[in-house]
Amino acid sequence: MSRRKKIYEGKGKILYEGPEPGTLVAHFKDDATAFNNQKRGTLDGKGVLNNRISEFVMERLNEIGVPTHFIRRINMREQLIREVEIIPIEVVARNIAAGSLSARLGLEEGQPLPRSIVEFYFKNDELGDPMVAEEHITAFNWATTQEIDDIMALTLRVNDFMSGMFAAVGIKLIDFKLEFGRLYEGDMMRIVLADEISPDSCRLWDATTNEKMDKDRFRRDLGGVTEAYAEVARRLGIMKDAPPNLHVVESTVE
Ligand code: TMP
Ligand code: ASP
Repeated sequence: MSRRKKIYEGKGKILYEGPEPGTLVAHFKDDATAFNNQKRGTLDGKGVLNNRISEFVMERLNEIGVPTHFIRRINMREQLIREVEIIPIEVVARNIAAGSLSARLGLEEGQPLPRSIVEFYFKNDELGDPMVAEEHITAFNWATTQEIDDIMALTLRVNDFMSGMFAAVGIKLIDFKLEFGRLYEGDMMRIVLADEISPDSCRLWDATTNEKMDKDRFRRDLGGVTEAYAEVARRLGIMKDAPPNLHVVESTVE
């Protein structure tokens, strides 16, 4: 087997050159990081679960007409995606106060917000992904006003759809992070949803108990991280049983 060309390695995924021009293979790792790489760990089976959950969500979104980079899953850890030019903005949509919003505005975690709120963060690890306004995004040419309008409209559709999808299986969608890219087709360009949608990038609480079923279990040392991800997959009907050996192998804080 010939070695594949690695295009990029991020904290949770490796991107390899795809079989055809304009495609990439995304490989989901078991590595977990939090607080901009200060906390690191390996969670056996996380990559498999995120690959499957992200496939499921992206397929459902494609079905309702939300354009995404997802083409198809290749194997347990890999999916074929379209190569896009990533817009260096992390888009966070929030329905219920939690995490950095609670800290910033002194809101109790779990308090419903008056309406859904969309925030933008500049994707830059060295700076710790600072929050930015639309003004910064257009002034520094990270995206145009038209692109921001498209991103806002897509984010709100994703929020509506995913809130319902998770509610139907007894899960509250507290907040989530999306990334978008530019897809060039001939002389046409359109904005598509990129990256992944998984318990790494969403806050998901059990609707009855408010138990956390997402990466906050890792960030806050609550244990049972992959078990919770497997439960999300099970409820969505993706996996009947949790894969074996789902446990935290190692977790370090530096
Ligand atoms: P926050 O409350 O820490 O700002 O996180 C908001 C949402 O964004 C939450 O669902 C987790 C997700 N998120 C990421 O996917 N990557 C990140 O680097 C951060 C900080 C948050
Ligand atoms: N993904 C980010 C990091 O590694 C932060 C987070 O998800 O909490 O460091």
